[in-house]
Amino acid sequence: DKPFNILLLPGDGIGPEIIEQARLLLIQLSDQENVSMQLSAADVGGAAYDKVGQPLPDDTLEKAKQADAILLGAVGGPKWEPLDISVRPEKALLGLRSQLELFANLRPAQLFPQLAEASSLKNERVADLDLLIIRELTGGIYFGQPRGVEGEAGQRVGRNTYIYHEDEIRRIAHVAFKAAQKRNNMLCSVDKANVLEVTELWREVVTDVARDYPDVRLTHMYVDNAAMQLVRDPKQFDVMVTGNMFGDILSDIAAMLTGSIGMLPSASLDANGKGMYEPVHGSAPDIAGQNKANPLATFLSVAMMLRYSFDREDLAAQIEQAVAAVLSQGFRTKDIAANGAINGDEKLVSTSEMGQLVRQAVSS
Ligand code: NAD
Ligand code: IPM
Ligand code: MN
Repeated sequence: DKPFNILLLPGDGIGPEIIEQARLLLIQLSDQENVSMQLSAADVGGAAYDKVGQPLPDDTLEKAKQADAILLGAVGGPKWEPLDISVRPEKALLGLRSQLELFANLRPAQLFPQLAEASSLKNERVADLDLLIIRELTGGIYFGQPRGVEGEAGQRVGRNTYIYHEDEIRRIAHVAFKAAQKRNNMLCSVDKANVLEVTELWREVVTDVARDYPDVRLTHMYVDNAAMQLVRDPKQFDVMVTGNMFGDILSDIAAMLTGSIGMLPSASLDANGKGMYEPVHGSAPDIAGQNKANPLATFLSVAMMLRYSFDREDLAAQIEQAVAAVLSQGFRTKDIAANGAINGDEKLVSTSEMGQLVRQAVSS
């Protein structure tokens, strides 16, 4: 068989720490299950800027195009905040998403029952939580033109453009309806159609696409209400579909329902199933370099990669079961310890210890 050609992009902050653990996990799986993998790495984000003066060097983009799948840690940090926005680390992430046309961002929020105490919501509100946020990733206000700040000091104008083309809405809607069909046949489209014309169009197009999926129950919700409903009663949702910026915000809310932003994985897919996989969280500058970061969102992103890019449900499930087993044994990074403090049954572990525990669980 052709080897899985995987590009690792560690990036900044905790990125290198969590990607190193993911690399070790991939090597372990590849040895143990006799799956041939070709792992390579490249610079991205602030790390790349420091070396070559740009956050997404041409050869990194080229390697990303050649790879079957990409695993990214995180980019950004205070060190690069003063830079012009055109060369900031975050620009690399946006560049990869748009250049590779990774328009469909899947962000599943599932509660491991072992982490019910770590959730910011009461146990009964989040028990068995399993929702999927589908975020449009290459359009909307993130990419709309014109954009920028212009004018004389004191009278400057800042501007971004919230724009969606009908075909962009249509293709993400199809992804969302298909995902709902594989789950509980419920889709909630989130917009601000009461105020913004662009999302009035969004609602109209999603409603039109719904005619192809008569078995899926489509509802619409305004984004402010959706944010409220996510913390009031998140289990009412099955699949949610929304634009780029609303999806960014709602998925961080959803993350906390599962105990920590350190638990939420994501897949960013193109029309052919090629994908970039990354934890939803950022580079966590406050804990970077301290071996404290939770690597589980990254491991779960590896599981998504094996499932979506390589069609290896068996290996994906192996990782997910290993994570569950380690949580059942009481091992916790700081962010998922109940109430932020370790109780009697929980054992506080570092990034690398968590990595080792999951590798052990995968092999047993
Ligand atoms: P963040 O997600 O990096 O951190 C928010 C909080 O969550 C911090 O307290 C952090 O310690 C904690 N946290 C995040 N991931 C964790 C993990 N795996 N384990 C334990 N705790 C974790 O968000 P921020 O502080 O708003 O952003 C920091 C930098 O990251 C910024 O430069 C931002 O642009 C960038 N960012 C990058 C990505 C990405 O690369 N995909 C995503 C979000 C933010
Ligand atoms: C995310 C991040 C990115 C986004 C930033 C770092 C560009 O917050 O992946 O959720 O806003 O999409
Ligand atoms: Mn985000």
